[in-house]
Amino acid sequence: MKEKLIQLLSKEAGLSPKEVESLLEIPPSPELGDFAFPCFSLAKTLKKSPVQIAQELSEKISSKELEKVEAKGPYINFFLDKKKLFDETINKILKEKDKYGSSSVGKGKTIVIDMSSPNIAKPFGIGHLRSTIIGNAIGNISKAQGYKVVKLNYLGDWGTPFGKIIEGYKKWGDAKKLEKEPIKHLYEIYVKASQDSEMEEAGRQTFKKLEEGDKETSTLWKKFRQLSVREFNKLYKTLGISFDVTSSESEYNNKMQFTLNELKEKNLLVKDQGALVVKLDKYNLGTCLIQKSDGATLYATRDITAAIDRYKKYKFSHLLYEVGQEQKLHFKQFFKILELLGYSWAKNCVHIEHGLYLGKDGKKFATRKGKTVFMEDIIEETKELAKREIAKREKLSSKQLDERALKIALAAIFYGDLKNHRSGDIVFDLQRFLSFEGNTGPYLLYSYVRACSILRKAKSKTAKVSIQALSEKEKKLVTKLGAFPDVVKISYEQLAPNMVANYAFELAQAFNEFYHAEQVIGSEQEGFRLILVRAFTQTLKNSLNLLGIEALEQM
Ligand code: ARG
Repeated sequence: MKEKLIQLLSKEAGLSPKEVESLLEIPPSPELGDFAFPCFSLAKTLKKSPVQIAQELSEKISSKELEKVEAKGPYINFFLDKKKLFDETINKILKEKDKYGSSSVGKGKTIVIDMSSPNIAKPFGIGHLRSTIIGNAIGNISKAQGYKVVKLNYLGDWGTPFGKIIEGYKKWGDAKKLEKEPIKHLYEIYVKASQDSEMEEAGRQTFKKLEEGDKETSTLWKKFRQLSVREFNKLYKTLGISFDVTSSESEYNNKMQFTLNELKEKNLLVKDQGALVVKLDKYNLGTCLIQKSDGATLYATRDITAAIDRYKKYKFSHLLYEVGQEQKLHFKQFFKILELLGYSWAKNCVHIEHGLYLGKDGKKFATRKGKTVFMEDIIEETKELAKREIAKREKLSSKQLDERALKIALAAIFYGDLKNHRSGDIVFDLQRFLSFEGNTGPYLLYSYVRACSILRKAKSKTAKVSIQALSEKEKKLVTKLGAFPDVVKISYEQLAPNMVANYAFELAQAFNEFYHAEQVIGSEQEGFRLILVRAFTQTLKNSLNLLGIEALEQM
């Protein structure tokens, strides 16, 4: 229907369909119609006032699809024929099912998303959680736009800290503790080593040995890496998130010479107190350290090397990095260096930055009381809270309770994050995330459950469908349902999963209003209303799945 409207407008206003589409707005309230077209930009060419243009154009446009066309000041408001809209939208949803909302605009193109990317031997941070949740949603949304998506986990497993950890382990390590709680143990060692001034030099030398492939050092490092990965994988399993590729910084140890040579060839490397750097002052980006005076390479050196390698491997149309905003300068610097090296695809590298999680006190969450927060503990705590909620409503076996609590907890955490625009800081308030009322994950799950239960209760699955005039609430719900494909498209374009999240909430609200106002089962319009409910469950499920949230049929 929107396409039809664009065609009509394009013909009458003398604009290309693309221009019309970019101008077309969704009015802030239903009294102003389903679409609005502002006439300001036509005033110059037509040499008339926007108000006059709106009046004249509105008189020219009519179609079977439109209930009403109305000029309101400089705007033309279009009211779609709701019965037609119902037919078109609902048929589309029921036909496309899980694919409703998808498109094929990205066909043949690849998007690589660097996401999660925790550091071995260190706790999986709350920032890594954000990166995992947001990266996953952006990956799903891109896939729904037809792109081939490579979700790539880039482990931080290289760099001078590992020299310190290895030295520290040799001094204070305990094999039993390492096996039992590897990350906690290694992190304790790291903290201790960082406070020990002697460890500075020893760690530096040990990392150098590691870079050179020394046997004893490498064996320990491999062990730490393997145990850390084991822990991370447990967590990913709990979160229900997987990757297409797991890669890591250490992979690039042997490829760094290539990057150094390229930088030399392009005359970008400068000696600075024994170290090698790229000067980026001209671009207001300071200096980027490439190689330390002892020959050790850095995070940036590895990222440059990795990006070049990824382009060779994937020929990506975009390479996205879902990483906290505190690394902004790092990304700007190495994207600039890629550009200076002459890689035209550098402009397609994007840092998708996210803000911090804050505690209820407004302070950075991870440093709460100076203690480290372990992700497993956070999920456990959320699960316990969910269990209490469920127990208020239902009696379940402990296995069922456990499974359901985990799903609700994840919906609470994922949605609690994704409903906000990623760039802002968010207060990590588990109590609020878990509330069954308000703008929360559990509220969405609950709306889905409610709709599923109506469908289960309906006896006459084949009740005759006759579409009467639609009520206000029905109109609102149908209009919302029809908007989903556009929402997914914009959410992709802006790399903003919060658009899908906010849509899911508004959709659930529209359904709940409908459900409170209209009887479904046993009403004269049962057949028709059941179809509407089915279309709702399908669309809500599709939007939740894009966010990485599993819809539950019972709760
Ligand atoms: N491991 C890094 C950290 O925890 C994040 C890596 C992000 N990805 C990248 N290609 N730099 O800070």
